[in-house]
Amino acid sequence: MISEAMRVRINEQINRELYSAYLYLALSAHAQRINLKGTAAWFMAKHGEEMMHALKMYRYLLDQDAQVTLASVAAPPAAPDGVMAIFEGTLAHEREVTAAINELVDQALSEKDHATRVFLQWFVTEQIEEEATVIDVIGRLRLFGDQGQGLLMIDNELAAAAKSIGQTRPADGGA
Ligand code: FEO
Repeated sequence: MISEAMRVRINEQINRELYSAYLYLALSAHAQRINLKGTAAWFMAKHGEEMMHALKMYRYLLDQDAQVTLASVAAPPAAPDGVMAIFEGTLAHEREVTAAINELVDQALSEKDHATRVFLQWFVTEQIEEEATVIDVIGRLRLFGDQGQGLLMIDNELAAAAKSIGQTRPADGGA
C-alpha cells in the first residue's frame, strides 16, 4: 500500500522514463541519418533501457495495488547540431532524471514508506552509472574530437558498448 501522493509521483516518473525512451529513440534515428551507426545503436539500446525503467515502475504500482495512470508523452525536441551537443544534452537530461528520482526518495523518506524507498534504491544506483557513462563519452569526444577519425573511433566504441547495455546488471531482468 502506498499513499496517493506517492502513487501520483511514481506515475509522473513513469512518464519521465517514457519521455526518456522517446528522446533516445529520436536521437537514434538522427544518428542513423547522419551515418553514425554505432551512436544510433547506442541510443536505441538506451531507448530499450528507459522502457525497462518505466515498466519497472509500472510493475511496482501494480504490485502495490495502485492505479497506473498513463499521460501523454511530450514530443522530443529536434536533435542539436553536432555529436558533442547531443551528448551534452543527454547528460543534462539524465541529471534532471537523477534530481527527479532523488525527490521521489525524499517523498518516500518523509512518508516513512520503506518499501518505496528500497524500490527506488535501484534507480539511485542506476542514475550514477547512467551519468558516468555519458560523462565518459563526452570526455572521449573532447580527447579525440567529434569529427573525422576521432568520431569514427568513438562511434565504433559506442557500437560495442550498445551490445552490453542492460546486460551487465542482473537486476535489470526484474522489470
Ligand atoms: Fe531512466 Fe536514464 O533514466
